[in-house]
Amino acid sequence: MQEKISRIFKEKFGEPAGNIYASAGRINLIGEHTDYNGGFVFPGAIDKVIMAEIRPNDTDTVRVYSIDIEEYVEFGLREEDAPSQSWARYIFGICREIIKRGGTVRGFDTVFAGNVPLGAGLSSSAALESCFAFALNDLFNDNKIDKFELVLIGQATEHNYCGVNCGIMDQFASVFGKKDNLMRLDCRSREYEYFPFHPKGYKLVLVDSRVKHELADSPYNKRRESCERVARALGVETLRDADMDMLLNVKDKISDEDFNRAKFVIEEKERVLAVCDALLRDDYDTVGEKMYETHQGLSKDYEVSCEELDYLNDVARECGVTGSRIMGGGFGGCTINLVKDDLYDHFIKEATDRFEAKYGHKPQIYDVIISDGARRIS
Ligand code: GLA
Repeated sequence: MQEKISRIFKEKFGEPAGNIYASAGRINLIGEHTDYNGGFVFPGAIDKVIMAEIRPNDTDTVRVYSIDIEEYVEFGLREEDAPSQSWARYIFGICREIIKRGGTVRGFDTVFAGNVPLGAGLSSSAALESCFAFALNDLFNDNKIDKFELVLIGQATEHNYCGVNCGIMDQFASVFGKKDNLMRLDCRSREYEYFPFHPKGYKLVLVDSRVKHELADSPYNKRRESCERVARALGVETLRDADMDMLLNVKDKISDEDFNRAKFVIEEKERVLAVCDALLRDDYDTVGEKMYETHQGLSKDYEVSCEELDYLNDVARECGVTGSRIMGGGFGGCTINLVKDDLYDHFIKEATDRFEAKYGHKPQIYDVIISDGARRIS
């Protein structure tokens, strides 16, 4: 990918070469829809990245070529110059959010590409945001913007330019990711801890239903609103500060739907902590059990699954896979599966054949390699 980017950069913008940066997509072992509720998440960056070559151009204009979309866009750095192409708004948003915070962004030329599958729940958008946030901090700000601020810049881009009121998990994972480590992030205090992750005798594999999701068009924001309504009814800042007794006390004052959403979040918060403890004991049976519980909650209470993902989850269970669940925001994308080494081939074959027979297309399989997050490559 790097060679292709450099060749096309040279074709489009000539010499000299720019710097090359990359940032990663992410998985999340457990802790879904907890980030915007002040809870815990447990993600890691993966070996699929967005990579960009970038060179300042001494103007106020940003000139961008996307290799994958085969589209060229130019924009100025003022608010009224927002591009209409959704992919370019991520880069525009990052520039604006840095400027809003008093940082510096000047014009630049860039060519980028990626291998994070789009709409698969692996956070290709966070990888794009983090790649540019990291790069513009390096190129124009002497790396003075704190790394956590880069995460918030990515998140604000989603909120203000892309219509998704997401939490901070994806951008956090993309910026802070570390090879062979998952990270437990407390989204309220922003404290985080690296957990070495080498599940001996097991593989983590993603099965992508290839049902596409667009969080901006999906009821993602509605889920967040439900949680905020319940938090208000409880008189707490976020559902992090709620427990089941408190929730049962307001059951009559909130809708059944909101009750179920909040119930999932309260239970999920505990599951993350249980999984971290289990991992420290190499107790993968418990990890897997919690993953299935999360799937159940996301499907029945939070209602962000879909038929295809529920089917993949059923197939995993029937094959004796240790843990399986829908991953990410939902409404399509992947399941994440913790599979014993000796069951791996059988499971992949069953999932592929049975899914294809039922839905007419094969799911895509991705083996997960936990890798580094945002970085400068050259
Ligand atoms: C999306 C959002 C994240 C998080 C997950 C669900 O990936 O971008 O902030 O809420 O959904 O856990």
